[in-house]
Formats: sequence, structure tokens, C-alpha cells
Amino acid sequence: MNDWSRALRVPADGSPALSEATFSGNRGLQIEEKLIFEQDAPGRCGVDLPEPPPFRARLGGLERQGPIGLPGLSEPQVVRHFTRLSQKNYAIDSGLYPLGSCSMKHNPRLNEKLARLPGLADIHPLQPLSTVPGALELIDTLAHWLKTLTGMPAVALSPAAGAHGELCGIMTVRAALEARGDPRRRVLVPESAHGTNPATAAACGYQVDAVPADPRGRVDRAALEAKLGPDVAALMLTNPNTCGLFEGEIIEIAAAVHRAGAFFYCDGANFNAIVGRVRPSDLGIDCMHLNLHKTFSTPHGGGGPGSGPVALAAALAPYAPLPWLVHGAHGIEAIEHKTGPAAAAIGRLKGFHGQMGMFVRALAYMMSHGSDGLRQVAEDAVLNANYLRAALGDNLSVPFPGPCMHEVLFDDRFLKDTGVTTLDFAKALIDEGFHPMTIYFPLIVHGAMLVEPTETESKAGLDEFAAVVKALAAAARAGDTARFRGAPALAPRRRLDETAAARKPVLRWRPAAG
Ligand SMILES: Cc1ncc(COP(=O)(O)O)c(C=O)c1O
Repeated sequence: MNDWSRALRVPADGSPALSEATFSGNRGLQIEEKLIFEQDAPGRCGVDLPEPPPFRARLGGLERQGPIGLPGLSEPQVVRHFTRLSQKNYAIDSGLYPLGSCSMKHNPRLNEKLARLPGLADIHPLQPLSTVPGALELIDTLAHWLKTLTGMPAVALSPAAGAHGELCGIMTVRAALEARGDPRRRVLVPESAHGTNPATAAACGYQVDAVPADPRGRVDRAALEAKLGPDVAALMLTNPNTCGLFEGEIIEIAAAVHRAGAFFYCDGANFNAIVGRVRPSDLGIDCMHLNLHKTFSTPHGGGGPGSGPVALAAALAPYAPLPWLVHGAHGIEAIEHKTGPAAAAIGRLKGFHGQMGMFVRALAYMMSHGSDGLRQVAEDAVLNANYLRAALGDNLSVPFPGPCMHEVLFDDRFLKDTGVTTLDFAKALIDEGFHPMTIYFPLIVHGAMLVEPTETESKAGLDEFAAVVKALAAAARAGDTARFRGAPALAPRRRLDETAAARKPVLRWRPAAG
């Protein structure tokens, strides 16, 4: 299965190659790219600098003794190398990216343009605050929108990702419980939760107690209530949950959590399904992070910058991390230290105010959509997912009955006895020109395939995707396993051993011996 060769070579099992082999190893105008070190010509350089004057050793013998081993390349070689690499990258700007739980939607170029305005992009984080009143006002306005959309009185903007927001939220919960002299030990987390939820609870020193799902894919309320007790610090619930379903009993769940003296944390990473339609505060939520990079369309994926602000109820607001922006006698002022109203703050989680570029993009997105436009975002996200559910439900298998929210979950029952696995099916989509959906998550569904089309895909785009998925499902049922075995066959690389790649990554190039 782990075939590192290019598709154009004849597969080892002797089956016919999918296309003609080439003399060069390149395919069409797709170049088989060598590592930059393999292109090295010692002594070659892209710049022409005069020899440096002799220098006086001032490092007490720590000076470098030999060359540092950078590859020698000309400027055109470097440009071509990185251009060709960038062309191998698949991105939301290339096509549909239906990765469930990731909200890979179009990032309006207006956001990008505004984020690049010199007055915003060139601010130095150490600039005196008195020189950046506009930036402070922008941050304050973003906070206002987030408070309005969530119905919460406070928002902490500095967390740099969803997981970081979770850490922030549970730290405020811990601080509030400690302040009332009631430290507790357990945090309840549904089995379907994103892995960051239990990880966050554990990182904050809590024992994680898993709550099962019921046959409808929602939290089993009876099991949850049985687990609630005086040692429970919080429930961390995702709504809509990771099965793409709304937790319809959320108000009753919130009441039960509060009766037990615990806090109700909501993972709001899926807020794009309900933004402008529901205010989390009205559901009894005490604390909720939002993924600006998902809901409010800032570019993400591949480890790019994120932003995970946390909306806080009044009981948790005093513990919000520093810095705080407050309206003072001289306009917007920053409280940077644990003093005055911020005496109980949990401290700092991030340098400065957070991810300013993400703030600008998210606020541009909000203001250009307006409140009615944001409501429509949620409606269209839910409509698109249900469109695919209706288009594919008879061809694939759906684990839970009824409509979904912003993403639709399938399982692998439709592949039973075909010899095709969920992984094979997803990889075959690559050959068809579609990025796969999220697979094997959430864990509570066997062979899960989680499809999140997002609101920015057109009906025509969804139809093309649905037609390909249906054709693949029919091929699997017809016994055409060759199409799936080892797929993708047409990508620059065949299927990789993902376990080995994760467990034994080769991150360092070493010259061949000799
Ligand atoms: C439900 C859920 N919770 C938490 C996260 C973590 O967010 P991040 O990747 O920004 O840390 C995600 C990621 O998309 C998510 O889908």
C-alpha cells in the first residue's frame, strides 16, 4: 500500500499504469520536484555581495568555524522551486474543500485588502498605545460584535486558536471555582467531542469523564445527569455537535449543570451554523470560544494563524486574561496588570492583544455582511449541508435520522462487503479532483465521513461533488475495487503510510553517505 512512487510508473503488482511513463519522470507540466538540497551546486549564489571586511572576533571562540551547509542555488532556481511547490498545494482557492469540522470557506478578498492596509499591517506591537487609537477602537468594535452575537457581557480576544480559547475558558472556570473555595476535580466531555476538549480539561488538571451519545447522536441526557455531582467543575459541550447535529435539549442540560454548581462550557467552533440565529447566552452557556478563522472566514489550515476569542458570562468575566480594553476618561485604555478591576485575571495567555491580522479580517467580514448577512451565512451553511444530505443519503448511509446543521455525517455501512474502506473512498476522491471529507471523526460513528460544504459553495459545485460521490459509491458496490486500491493513483504521490508519517516523520535531509 505504501507506494512512494509517482503514478506514472507501472505499479509493482504488474497492473497496467494509468498513463504512459515518461523519460523525465515529469508528467505533463507537473515537475517531479527535487528537494532544494538535491539541487545544490556548491558555490552557486543568487546574490553578488562584496567580500566582508575582516572582523574582530568578539564571541570568545564561539564563531562559526565552517560553512553552514545552505544549498547553493541561483535566484531563478529558487523562484521556480518554490513556485512549483506552491502549485502542488491544494487550497480553498483551488476548489471545494469539504473537510468536516474545519469550515473551509471562501475568504473574501476584501478582508485581505483591509488587513494589508499599512496603518494596520505595519503597527509594531511595542508601539505606545497612544499612537494606535484606531487599532484599539477596531479591537473594541470586534469585541462589541462578538458580545452582541453571543449575548455575553465579556470577551477575551487574545487566545490564538480554538484550543487556546478552550484553555482560556477552563482556566477562568478553575479560577472562579477556586475563588469561591470550591475546587472541583472532574470535567464532563461527550464522547463525540473534538480531541482538544478532553486535552484542555486534562491540561488544566481535571479528570476527564466521558459522556456517551444517545441513538440520535446527541448527548445522552440521562447519562449526563447521572454523572453530575458536587465534584464536577464543568461540562464541555459542542453545539452544534461534531455529528453536525443541534443539541436540542441544551437548555435543560444547562439547567442541570447549574443545579450541580458547575459551569457550562460550550465549544463554539461550529458557530457558523447558528451565528445570528441563536445567542449562546440564551441557551444558558457560561463560556464559549469562537474560531474566528472558521466562522468569520480568515484563512486557516496548514498551521496558519488562528484566533479563538472566548465569550464569558458575568460570573467568569473577572478572570478574563490580560490585557483588558476599557473605556476610560481618555478613550479606550488597556489594563495590562492584575490590578484594579483586573485583580482576579488569570494572567496573560499571549503576547500583546492577540492576532491583530485575524481581528481585522473577522471584523471586515462581520461589517460587510451585517447582522442579516451573518444570519444568512448560518442559513446557507445549513442549507448546503442538508442539500448534500438529501442528494447523497440514498447512496451513502446516514447514522442519525433527521436534518443536520452545517455538516453532514455519513458512516461506512454502504461500503459493507465491498472490500472498500472509508480511507479508500476518501482517497479515490482525490483522483476525481476533490479534496476528501474528514474521515474517521467523530469516533462514535464507524467509518465516519464528515462533509462540511460551507455556505460559500454554489449549487452547481455541490451537484458536481454529489455526482462524483454517487459514482464512486456505485463503483464500490459494483466491485470495482481496483479504482480504490492504493488510491490516489493520479496525484503527485500515491498513498502514503500516514501512521509512519505521523509516528516516524523524516524531517531532516541528510546527504547521501560517501
Ligand atoms: C469542534 C472543534 N473544537 C475545537 C477545535 C479546535 O480549534 P483550533 O484548531 O483552532 O485549535 C476545532 C477545530 O476546528 C473544532 O472543530
